[in-house]
Amino acid sequence: MVKKRTCIFISGYGSNLKYLINNSRNQNFPIKISLVVCNNKNAKGILHAKKNSIPCLIINTNKRNFENKILNELKRYKISLICLAGYMKIISKKFINTYGKTIINIHPSLLPKFKGLNTFKRILKNKEKKTGCTVHFVNEKLDAGTNIIQKSFFINKNDNEKILKNKTQNLEYKAFSEAIIKIFRYN
Ligand code: GAR
Repeated sequence: MVKKRTCIFISGYGSNLKYLINNSRNQNFPIKISLVVCNNKNAKGILHAKKNSIPCLIINTNKRNFENKILNELKRYKISLICLAGYMKIISKKFINTYGKTIINIHPSLLPKFKGLNTFKRILKNKEKKTGCTVHFVNEKLDAGTNIIQKSFFINKNDNEKILKNKTQNLEYKAFSEAIIKIFRYN
């Protein structure tokens, strides 16, 4: 199997990145992580890239043309899939169109519910019965592309933001890899 050369975008802890790196070691998993892009020079996630000898582009998103810099690297590393794994910066329409290949994102809610930030706080405030995570294709609108996979669980009375985050992220680790397998099943 020829693995798709993939780039993971992160901003923080990188726990999803860690799971994707582990799963990509399986020869039947359809992607190889060839590049990591991070827009926070202090992000813990950078260490996962370093430990696994994966090139990591640390980018200052306050600089003009930062997206062009990323696009150049994507070309250099022949990337054909981008996975946004906790990348806390909105990707521009121009970037999406110029890149022209698949971009997917993981979001900690059952989209279309609770797009954007502070999801767990809003979920609790709204007294939701169920929550979960979504992996979806990225388009020009925030958290709005077609869903690939969702995983859900029932919220307990005593669940707080921290517990919800934990439960959601444990589902994310499975959902991200399953979504990737699903995308490439027929390729
Ligand atoms: C993940 O839970 C992901 O769903 C969320 O950031 C976290 C990153 O965790 N993404 C968003 O909220 C995007 N809107 P990680 O760095 O440990 O993988």
